[in-house]
Amino acid sequence: MDTGALSRLNQVSLQGRVAVVTGGAMGIGSAIARELAGLGAKVLIADRSAGGAEQMAQTLHQAGAQAQGIACDVSDVAQVEQAAQAVCQSWGGIDVLVNCAGVASAPGQPYTRCTPEEWRRTLDINLMGAVHWCAAAREPLLASKAGRIINISSITGVISTPYMPAYSVSKAALISLSKVLARDLAMALVTVNAVCPGYIRTPMWGELVQRGTLPESEGDKFDQRVRLHVPMQRPQSVEDVAACVGFLATDLACHITGQVIGVDGGVTI
Ligand SMILES: NC(=O)c1ccc[n+]([C@@H]2O[C@H](COP(=O)([O-])OP(=O)(O)OC[C@H]3O[C@@H](n4cnc5c(N)ncnc54)[C@H](O)[C@@H]3O)[C@@H](O)[C@H]2O)c1
Repeated sequence: MDTGALSRLNQVSLQGRVAVVTGGAMGIGSAIARELAGLGAKVLIADRSAGGAEQMAQTLHQAGAQAQGIACDVSDVAQVEQAAQAVCQSWGGIDVLVNCAGVASAPGQPYTRCTPEEWRRTLDINLMGAVHWCAAAREPLLASKAGRIINISSITGVISTPYMPAYSVSKAALISLSKVLARDLAMALVTVNAVCPGYIRTPMWGELVQRGTLPESEGDKFDQRVRLHVPMQRPQSVEDVAACVGFLATDLACHITGQVIGVDGGVTI
């Protein structure tokens, strides 16, 4: 009998591993935190919302997981270093780092509408937040026997999106960062991948509509956008993205590195 499938079941567990999820208080990050906790990892939720991070940690606790919430603005290098030190002190290291914290940018068409301040704010959070965490977690990830970095990019990092230039550039840069670090960390067997979600109705979507970032013709017509742009003609869910991240965190994915994986119903085909 082929016992391959049975032996692979053991490789799915994250028991004994420590995971950090930035932006884990809500939206996609909260689903990722639930997924990793469900696979057995201890999870630190690092979010600029202290209350949100704490509440999410409580929810995971109630479900029987080990979790902590910490206030951490990823654009602030000192806060990131402090949070990384705190998790290493409590749980002895970091095995899985998921950089999910992100913000939508303000309307940017024509591109001159996007001010230098808006460019900086977007890049500081969406790109530099991941840079800060990848640096702060480098030593513990190298010491891990199964180090993983998973960066949550976007379809807009693959397909240029002129109505939010700073966001699109920040997400493309995150893909590039993932590939650069994948090469840098390959010998240490730390994998680095970028996951690109498609269309998901999270609080971020509401923010885009409220700020008038989306093209006026489409406004808040989420379903219409999905029909127009998604070959599978259905939106993705936060759980769809979390399942992909969960897989990449396990031993099953130990040879997958430097990849850009769309969870987008075919948008980027
Ligand atoms: N929703 C989508 O359709 C979609 C599509 C593609 C990619 N993404 C990406 O997925 C990630 C999560 O998006 P979402 O839709 O769940 O967004 P969301 O707005 O629902 O949640 C974002 C989370 O990040 C946190 N956050 C924001 N700025 C932060 C900072 N400076 N430091 C720490 N935490 C911070 C927020 O407090 C919040 O908990 C983002 O990186 C986003 O760009 C989302």
